[in-house]
Amino acid sequence: MRLDKALQSQGFGTRKECRLHVNTGRVLVNGVSAASPDDEVETVGLVLTVSGVEWAFAEKVYLALHKPADVECSHTPTHHPSVFSLLPPYLIARGVQCVGRLDADTTGLLLLSDDGTFIQKMTSPKHKMPKRYVVTCAEPVTDAQVAALRAGVVLNDAPEPVSGDAERAGERLLHLTIAEGKYHQVKRMVAAAGNHVVTLHRDRVGAFELPTTLAPREWMRIEPTIVQSIAP
Ligand code: URA
Repeated sequence: MRLDKALQSQGFGTRKECRLHVNTGRVLVNGVSAASPDDEVETVGLVLTVSGVEWAFAEKVYLALHKPADVECSHTPTHHPSVFSLLPPYLIARGVQCVGRLDADTTGLLLLSDDGTFIQKMTSPKHKMPKRYVVTCAEPVTDAQVAALRAGVVLNDAPEPVSGDAERAGERLLHLTIAEGKYHQVKRMVAAAGNHVVTLHRDRVGAFELPTTLAPREWMRIEPTIVQSIAP
């Protein structure tokens, strides 16, 4: 692929801007200063460095973000900054989207990608992708509440009772794994079971667990081999 096209495909600007990056000496190809934007580059194993940012070329990108509270999973947020403000411009430029949404006050694992097929697989109800939440409740969690969540509670937008894999994890702490992604689903399920969510944190989606090394506001790339295991 021609170097300017390769740079553009990774979100580093328009074709014109990418040519300028090369012509002003801001681009390394596999660690070596690029001579011309017209150079042909092999994309397999290609590492681009643009203004000091090292980037391994990838046709599609997969990210895990540790979402903090008080950011919105929207390009047009209403009350808080957008989650996209935590990403560098080249990821936004290549059209990375949230894989499902978390409420503004929910923290934890948010996946993002520019791979539409992956997003569809992860979010379509048909695939029943499990998502695990750590829930702090206002009142002590009772056996009856756990049993109700396991058996299924009635939500006004679901024809059938909605259940989850619920476990008491402390006096006011609950682990709840659900397969759907309805609006405020965990909060509504816990309310329907007779308690109230105080804090909500997602620590797992499918087989992917939020790495303990990823601090709130930080993001990391997920390697394609790992992506395969999340959405086989
Ligand atoms: N359920 C909720 O209620 N909120 C979230 O952010 C995610 C699941």
